[in-house]
Amino acid sequence: MTDKNTQNPFSGILGFIIKLIQIILYIPIQIIFIPFAIIGIAIAVYKEMGVSKKLGVSFSAIKALQYRWMMHYFETRDDPLSVAFVKKFPCESHFGMWSVMGALIISQRLTGFPEKLGKLVERGEESGDTTAGIRVLTFDKIMEKYVEDMEQIVLPGSGFDLIALHFTKGKDLKVFELDQANTLNLKIETLKKAGIEHDWITYIPVDYENESWADKLLEAGFDKSKKTLFLWQSVSLYLEENIVKDNLRQMANLCAEGSIIAQDFYSEVFAAGEYSKESKKFLGIIESMGEPAKFGVDMSDNPKAAVESFLNECGLQMTDYIQFGEKLDIEPFYSIVEAEKL
Ligand SMILES: C[S@@+](CC[C@H](N)C(=O)[O-])C[C@H]1O[C@@H](n2cnc3c(N)ncnc32)[C@H](O)[C@@H]1O
Repeated sequence: MTDKNTQNPFSGILGFIIKLIQIILYIPIQIIFIPFAIIGIAIAVYKEMGVSKKLGVSFSAIKALQYRWMMHYFETRDDPLSVAFVKKFPCESHFGMWSVMGALIISQRLTGFPEKLGKLVERGEESGDTTAGIRVLTFDKIMEKYVEDMEQIVLPGSGFDLIALHFTKGKDLKVFELDQANTLNLKIETLKKAGIEHDWITYIPVDYENESWADKLLEAGFDKSKKTLFLWQSVSLYLEENIVKDNLRQMANLCAEGSIIAQDFYSEVFAAGEYSKESKKFLGIIESMGEPAKFGVDMSDNPKAAVESFLNECGLQMTDYIQFGEKLDIEPFYSIVEAEKL
């Protein structure tokens, strides 16, 4: 997977001319797409919101998958697996997304210059609405860094993320993915329909709120003596604080020497929907689909110290800390950390 388009070398008059060419090319393409877009939006919304509700699967996981699809077509991250998955996925419409974003994708390809959705900000310059792409790429880098060195990989709350399939195929390690039963069962069903091999991954249905995922993991063959990478991407935001703590303590208990827990934290302000208008709107939609944001760390004073102290309470020691937006003069709202057992 590649990390592209993090810089825009064109500014000033050249940047303006390029933007103008893009707009001139974009308008007629978009006009052709309008009838498809009208039908496409209706299909996509019905599938994302209606079908997903009927099937009882995680809407936040669908949004994360949708973003990875966009990254593929806007050429910020190659992800043919997610594209193949979406084509057979009942809760998303490949046609719908193409009909809505196709004109932008084509005009980016024709001019060779990235559209807004095809641009990534520089590391450290992430704001609330430019976090998603860098977050995905940062977790890719963590996976790349450890995959050769680990004996087991565990993704608690993997949703429809296919990162494990991409990075662990053909490797000599055990991989476990956990998520709620409906979400995980639909993932397996869709992987089969899409003809995506996944037989080296053990899928474990679990509801953190009501059952012990650690017991289920051990029953499924997890070995406590093996070096493990836990990858916990974008899950804690949706859990109560006591459940987050409990999960992290359980992960710490399962960690053999050399194991790593990588996860992200949102700020308390973000989780309360008070960070920005955009985040409030996004969290409002996710909440209306049954997944309210419940947990964030108080990042108002010293975010690094606050995250570190939270991890310490859970029996973990922080080994790496990435603060998003740290080069900008903005309120801290998100970080990705690595930790090991204290
Ligand atoms: C925002 S999605 C992230 C999915 C994936 N990690 C990714 O990056 O695409 C949050 C995930 O947490 C899972 N989750 C939330 N609450 C859960 C619970 N109580 N038990 C198990 N999984 C849960 C959801 O089903 C969903 O797949």
